[in-house]
Order: sequence, then structure tokens, then C-alpha cells
Amino acid sequence: MTLSKKMINAQVMDRNASLFRCPICLATMEMVELSRLVCVNNHSFDLSKNGYVNLAPQAHMTKYDQSLFGARKTVMTSGFFDGVLEAIINTVEKQPHTVILDAGCGEGSHLSEIVERLAGDVTGVGIDLAKEGITAAVKEYPGLIWNVADLANCPFQDDKFDVILNILSPANYAEFSRLLKPGGLFVKAVPESGYLQELRAIFYEDKGQKDEADPVARVAEHFDAVSTERITYTFPLADGLLAPLIQMTPLTWGASADKIEEALQMTIPEITIDFTIISGVNRKETGQCLVE
Ligand SMILES: C[S@@+](CC[C@H](N)C(=O)[O-])C[C@H]1O[C@@H](n2cnc3c(N)ncnc32)[C@H](O)[C@@H]1O
Ligand SMILES: [Zn+2]
Repeated sequence: MTLSKKMINAQVMDRNASLFRCPICLATMEMVELSRLVCVNNHSFDLSKNGYVNLAPQAHMTKYDQSLFGARKTVMTSGFFDGVLEAIINTVEKQPHTVILDAGCGEGSHLSEIVERLAGDVTGVGIDLAKEGITAAVKEYPGLIWNVADLANCPFQDDKFDVILNILSPANYAEFSRLLKPGGLFVKAVPESGYLQELRAIFYEDKGQKDEADPVARVAEHFDAVSTERITYTFPLADGLLAPLIQMTPLTWGASADKIEEALQMTIPEITIDFTIISGVNRKETGQCLVE
């Protein structure tokens, strides 16, 4: 008998129930009847039809909708992002990576690809505040744990993750530090000035892509052994990729329909990908008493 996606996901969550922390009262949780996560104070969160759990106590409207995540998946799985994923995988595979959290995972393709390409038994957990992203992820990539959740109030216990990924998404360093095991690895992918420069030229967008000021300094405030790697390449834009590329990026939010139409008529032979991968090691103490 083939298991449904919901059942596959329920079983993975059940095996990993000790990861979870109630987002309301912070108590431990368990999986009940393979259908809901329940905390010791009886706050209960049902599995969805396909097997994700919404652990964001309040509903959040985000600007990321179903069509945007569909477009992101088309572009991200075209090979466009392979160079960035390669660099992330090279960094992660040198460290313990049994339990990996992708904070702001979107439609889930990066986490799925990374887990698949890493050796050994890896548990992948993806969270995003946009329900549409998690809905897409859970349909496409069963066997990983997908949750609607706020990365500023992560529904997980302290010291549970070997690796936290944070790709093109906002960060909450206090939360990431809390969640990582001592010595755990944090990896952030930050867009640089060349990223999608061909599109920015069309949309007259001349400001940088960074969503936070000096992310390397911010990471260094919280993590040790911080290192950076710049990844820059161009990707040939095959027929049919320009439309989803325009649709997937916040760069075009606010652009007029005319401007978007004008861009769709253009010939853009290749597109620039330009990222810095920032990594650091959690400096949190182990809690062991070193004084004899
Ligand atoms: C540019 S997208 C990147 C998604 C994915 N990492 C990728 O590279 O395709 C930024 C993502 O961050 C998510 N996000 C923003 N604020 C968040 C929060 N507080 N908690 C969880 N996710 C958040 C958005 O919903 C969106 O999916
Ligand atoms: Zn609770």
C-alpha cells in the first residue's frame, strides 16, 4: 500500500515530535493519532490535508502568493540557482548536518534539493510565514517537515538544529542562536548588487538588493568563525523563463502593468546571479560546568 503524502509527513513529524515547542505557551508537544500536534497544555494544531502544520498563532497576510511561489519554483528548479546551492551544500557537508532548518523556505525547492544531495540520514524542516509557500512545498516534497511559522517566534525547542539555512529571507539571530546546537552552523545567502541586474535595469531599480544593513557584521555579532564566499555567474535565459522570473521577484512589485508588458517583450539572453554566502558557528556554551 502506498502511503498518502499526509501520512508520510505525519510519520516524519511523529518521529521528530521532540523538536517542537508550542508557539503559544512554549511547552513541549507530541503528535496525537498522527493527525495533530498537541502541547501539554492542550493547545492543538491539526495537520493539513497534505500534512503541514500551521504553527503561527495569528494569520499573516504576506505579499507572497501562490502564483509567485509557482514562478519561483519554475525559475529555481531551472538550474538558475544551482551555483548558489552548490556553495551552500559544500559548506554544510563539512559540518554535522543531521537536522536542518530552512528559515523562510518559500516553496521549499532549495531545502529539498539540499537534503537530497547531502549524504546520510538528514531531517529537513522548512518554515515560512506564507501559507501559500508551505502549501506548495508540502505537495511537492513529502518526507520533509513543513510548517507555517514565524521565524521571529520559532515553534521549536532550544539546541535542536545542526544547521540553519536563511536564503533570501529575513533573519532573527537571537532565535537562530537559540535553536542551533552549540557549534551548529548558520548559513545565510544574501543577494549582491549584480543579482538580477538585467531586470533592475528595466525597472529602473538602482538600489541594492540587501534586505538588511551589513549582514556580515550582524552575523558576526552572533556567530563565531564567520566566513564569506561570493558566488557570481550568468545563467542563459531559456525561452519561457523571463515571465516567471519577472513574476517571482519583489523587484517588480509596484511596477505598472505597462512596464511589465514592456519587459516581457524584451530579449534578455542571460541573467546575473550574484550572492554572498555567509556562514558562522553558534558560539552558545554547552552548559557543561568546566570548573572542577
Ligand atoms: C524572497 S522569499 C525567499 C524564499 C526562499 N528562501 C527562496 O529563496 O526562494 C522570502 C521569504 O521569507 C518569508 N518570510 C518573511 N518574513 C518571514 C517571517 N517572519 N517568518 C517566516 N518567513 C518569513 C516570506 O514569506 C518569503 O517566502
Ligand atoms: Zn501550548
